[in-house]
Parts: sequence; structure tokens; C-alpha cells
Amino acid sequence: MGQYSEAFTQAVDDREGFWLEAAKAVDWTTEPTRALDDSAAPFYRWFPGGELNTSYNALDRHVAAGQGDRTALIWDSAMVGEVRRYTYAELLDEVSRFAGVLAARGITSGDRVVIYMPMIPEAAIAMLACARIGAVHSVVFGGFAAPELATRIDDAEPVAIVTASGGLEPGRAVEYLPMVAKAIELSADAPQTVIVKDRPEIAGSAADHDGWLDWDTAMADAQAADPVPVAATDPLYILYTSGTTGKPKGVVRDNGGHAVALTWSMKNIYDISAGDVWWTASDVGWVVGHSYIVYAPLLVGATTVMYEGKPVGTPDAGAFWRVISDHGVKALFTAPTAIRAVRKADPNAEELAKYDVSSLQTLFAAGERLDPDTFTWASNTLGVPVVDHWWQTETGWAIAANLRGLEPMPIKAGSPTVPVPGYAVGVVDAEGKPVSAGEEGSIVIELPLPPGTLAGLWRDEDRYRKSYLAAFDGYYLTGDSGYVDEDGYVFVLGRSDDVINVAGHRLSTGSIEAVVASHPAVAECAVIGIHDDLKGQRPSGYVVLKSGVDIEADTLRSELVAKVREEIGAVATFRDVTVVPALPKTRSGKILRKTMRQIADHEEYTVPSTIEDPDVLTALAEQLKG
Ligand code: COA
Ligand code: AMP
Repeated sequence: MGQYSEAFTQAVDDREGFWLEAAKAVDWTTEPTRALDDSAAPFYRWFPGGELNTSYNALDRHVAAGQGDRTALIWDSAMVGEVRRYTYAELLDEVSRFAGVLAARGITSGDRVVIYMPMIPEAAIAMLACARIGAVHSVVFGGFAAPELATRIDDAEPVAIVTASGGLEPGRAVEYLPMVAKAIELSADAPQTVIVKDRPEIAGSAADHDGWLDWDTAMADAQAADPVPVAATDPLYILYTSGTTGKPKGVVRDNGGHAVALTWSMKNIYDISAGDVWWTASDVGWVVGHSYIVYAPLLVGATTVMYEGKPVGTPDAGAFWRVISDHGVKALFTAPTAIRAVRKADPNAEELAKYDVSSLQTLFAAGERLDPDTFTWASNTLGVPVVDHWWQTETGWAIAANLRGLEPMPIKAGSPTVPVPGYAVGVVDAEGKPVSAGEEGSIVIELPLPPGTLAGLWRDEDRYRKSYLAAFDGYYLTGDSGYVDEDGYVFVLGRSDDVINVAGHRLSTGSIEAVVASHPAVAECAVIGIHDDLKGQRPSGYVVLKSGVDIEADTLRSELVAKVREEIGAVATFRDVTVVPALPKTRSGKILRKTMRQIADHEEYTVPSTIEDPDVLTALAEQLKG
């Protein structure tokens, strides 16, 4: 039996043995004696009785082991042309002092702290500082506008917000402070404490707002705070992600299972160990950034690169190759969209020839399907394995991967390879019956999920059950559809719900629909995700006007685009609006979104037998053809 099969089988047949062994790679203040607590199934808890501190594991223990001089974090900003390096000892000092700043404000174990920050080291410092004192962070992506921030504040009920004067996007500065002020105004019970990292490039500072604290001033006389042991099962963070409704889901991650799973993943999936230079080109606002910019690389004592910039245009399509070459990156993890953007700008990879990227051993991709065309281009261009792997905010780490450190497997284009040990992946039909190899269905995972996956949704057990557990008894519903082939390779074809993936960013069409529907001229609307050559998908809106309304299509479009940008954020990239006479529906009134998407993408479709009025569909097909 190969090492993969052995590990996979052991993780199923001897779950306790497998995960308690993996847990030895983590430093505990109280060692766990059991791996799984299934007493409240289908709610599972990992490492009951264990106590640890995640920030201690990410920082202190490496310093204590004599590695204080090793580089922990390299911040490389293509936006300001600056590189900053922190050794483990320096990062520990910053994190302990910022933990002291939080503690001095009475913030303690279990309190929530919202972090709304761009890609600057202080974002990682704030996350680790929360972890140090047992506070639960909730990072909100900088591309979200004030109302989205307010929704998250209302749900998480934080005692503090940590932010910065802003982020830098090509050609514009994104000022955060007006958005934070607006979110506070919009939210029912906003926190008193707001701490602002001032960036000289961006207007606005703490001084402009009554009672807000300046990061640097607070840090100047801060007392370092020691790590506080927390239960393995205590929450480390809440990360909001798009569901099918407008209200985001607060995915809760624990401390113990997270530390064990991420540590295991670095060696076995990514083949990264202490001292290796690892770069995840994502954002701390997404799960990929939480797990693989901040926590996992530091947990194993590697050097993590944090990049502020884009794959193209900052300044050119050589940006990624420059970073790899400047910092000796061993493996890069990014989204397929980024690779497509580089390819579009530089199809013959002329920029690549300008840099020495010989340190690069593997390119990992996730966030959306790595299409075979992009896979082939990247493989041929870089001459290293290009490894797709599939995961979700909910799981926090890969469900299916090619385990480069455990047992590299042949790569099949279009597949993220095989289920990772701990994930019993299955494919079922609408009745929940397993389908045969090669047949498409809903991808499910047998419960319990492995350590590191979601402990639940923040204060919403009911939604957790309904969203993930209710569809098929004993299984977690991934929301993705796909198949497993005869060799056991998983193929993920796309979401089977109203979640869409735009440039590797997960968005809910429901929340965009809610904004569009609130326009006074709109009677009803549907927003669907249609194919986009660069971003994988993009949202496309179809609106029916209220009778008697007279509005130019262009005016309506720009008003709706502006409204979505203002209420959800630039990241929604909502630009397409088509006025239609009616929306195709079933007899029970359900909009036929899937059929609309097939029509818009010029795919084959069948007219559903439940359709209310086939003529509406025919008219839509005619209109979209033209
Ligand atoms: N803060 C504020 N605004 C942001 C933002 C942030 N952190 N990130 C993106 N935006 C804005 C962009 O400026 C853009 O605004 P615009 O409409 O004024 O141009 C809008 O949101 C859409 O951004 P994006 O979808 O990223 O498109 P883009 O055209 O700026 O860049 C790519 C295209 C392909 C270069 C970019 O999407 C990319 O790098 N993708 C990689 C995806 C990734 O890392 N995903 C993370 C999950 S692994
Ligand atoms: P997020 O929660 O933002 O990480 O988005 C998770 C969703 O992105 C998944 O449910 C999939 O639909 C999609 N996704 C992520 N990685 C992949 C992949 N490697 N292949 C196919 N789809 C992916």
C-alpha cells in the first residue's frame, strides 16, 4: 500500500491514533488524551480536554527553540515599493505588544475583535495578537463596503475594531475610515474601541475620529502580553462567507483542530517545513489567507511572504516571478484567475525570462477550478508541478489534493486529485444514493469532518444544520457538484447552489439580487453567475421593470452598478444588467436560474417540465442570442 492509501485508511479506521499522532507536532499546555468527541453528534469537537495557545505555537516556541533569528514574515508591497522583514523574535515582540494593547482595553478570552485591514503586516499581527489573549478575530475583506462590514459587526458583536487608514488598489487609494465610521453608524451595537494603523499614503487617521486610537501610539507604551491557554475547542476565529441568502455565514474555527490540521497539511500536502519560503498570493480577508498566509506557515516555522499587489499591472505581468526570485520562494499558492491574468498579459511569458525562479518547486492553485487550459499553460511555462486542490472556507484546508509531501501522484488536468486523509468524500444523487464512478452528483463528505474544519456557524446552530447536515443524513453537503473517476480522482464541476466564484472570491447572487431588487424601478430580478474568461464567473443581472416605469437602460445599469458597489463593495464586480420583459419560472414561482445560466453561457439546455410559461424562456433565449 502506498503512503497515501495507508494514511487515508488509517484516518478512517484508526481516527484516534492518526490524529493524536498528528497532534504531537503541536505544543499543548494540556495534552489531549482523545482526538474526537462525538458525544453531541452531528456536532463534533476535536481534542477535548486539550489546551494550547495558537499564537504560542506560531511564534514563541520557535523562538524558544533557538530560531528567533529566522525570518518569519516578508512583507513585499508592489503598491508602495517596500519590503519589510520580521524575524520570529521580532514578530513575537510585535504580536505580544499588540496583544498587550488589546488586553489593556479589557479585551479578554472569548471577546470578538473585527479586523478590517489591507495586506499589511499589522493585519497578521492583529490576528495573532487576538489568538494570544484568546480573543476571537473576525477578519473582513477590504473589498467589502460599509453595509457588509456592519452586517458582520452586528453578527459577531465585537468589542473592538482594528483597521488601517486604507488599502491600495491600482490607480486608487481605498480609504477605510469613512467606511468604518459608516458601518458603526449602521450597526445596532458597535464597539467603543477602534484602533487604526495609519498609512502615510492614505488620507485619514485615528485623530479624525473621537476616541479612536492610533496603532503606533498605542504600541509605543504597550506591555507585552503572555499567551493565554485556551481549550482546543474554543473558537480562534469567525470568518464570514457567502451563503445562498444575503446574510453571510459566520464559519467558526477552533484552536486545537486547526493547529493540528494545518501543521499536518504543510508537510503532507505542500511539502513545506521549517525554514522553507512559502508564498500564498491571496488576502487575509479570505480563508486561504487565514490558513496559508498567516497560521500554517508560522505553525511549522517556515517563512511566509505577504504580498500587497496584483499579479498584473503592479507594475507588469512579471510581478509574481519577481517576488519568487527576490525571496527564493519554494512554493507559490494562488488562484487560477491570477494565472489567467498573467497569461493574458504575457502569453509567451517574456517577463518570466527576466527572473531566476529556480527556487520554485511547486505551484498550488485553489479557490476555483483550475481549468485544463490554464493548467497546461502554467505547467509548460514554469516546468514545475502545477497542483490544483479543492477546499472551502468551511473546511479551512484541502478536501482533495495531490499530497506532494506524503506521496505525489500523477496529475490529471481538471482534477484536484484525491480526497485528503480525514475526508471521506462521496458523490450522491438527489435521493442521497451513491452514484457510480464517473457519474455526476452532489459531493458530500461523511461525518465527522476532520480536525480544522468548521465547528459550526456563529450562534446559529439551526442554519448550520439546515445548510450542511439536513440534505443527507450522516453527510456534510459541500454545495459543489462533480464526480469521482475510476482511479478515485475527484472532479469538482461547480456549485449546485446560488454561490458564485468571481476571481476566486466567493459571492452570493442572493445578496446582489437583494440590492438590485431594492431599486425603485425594479419589479423583480435574477442574478446569476455566468462564464468569464478571466475571472471564471461574473455576476449578471436580469431585471423586470415595474409597469409604467420609464428609465433608459444605461441609466438603470449605472445606478444598479453603483448601488451594488456601495452596498456590497467593489469586489462584487457587478457590471452586466439586462432588462427583460419577464423571468422564466416554474409553476410554483421559482426562477429558473440554472436554465438562464445555460442560455447565457450558450450551453445546451432542456426546458424544465415544471415551467410556467415556455414562451418566456424562448423570448429570453432569443434576446440573449441577439
Ligand atoms: N480592497 C478594496 N477593493 C478591492 C480589493 C481590496 N482588498 N480587492 C479588489 N478590490 C476591487 C478592485 O480594485 C476592483 O475595483 P474596480 O472595479 O474599481 O476596478 C474590484 O474590487 C474587482 O477586483 P478584482 O475582481 O480583484 O479584479 P481586478 O480587475 O482588480 O483584478 C485580477 C483582476 C485577476 C488581477 C485579480 O482578481 C486577482 O489577482 N485575482 C486573484 C484572486 C485571489 O487572490 N483570490 C483569493 C482567493 S484564493
Ligand atoms: P471559498 O469558501 O471562498 O474558499 O470557496 C469555496 C468554493 O470555491 C468551493 O465550494 C468550490 O465551489 C470553489 N473551489 C475552491 N477550490 C476549488 C477547486 N480547486 N476546484 C474547484 N472548485 C473550487
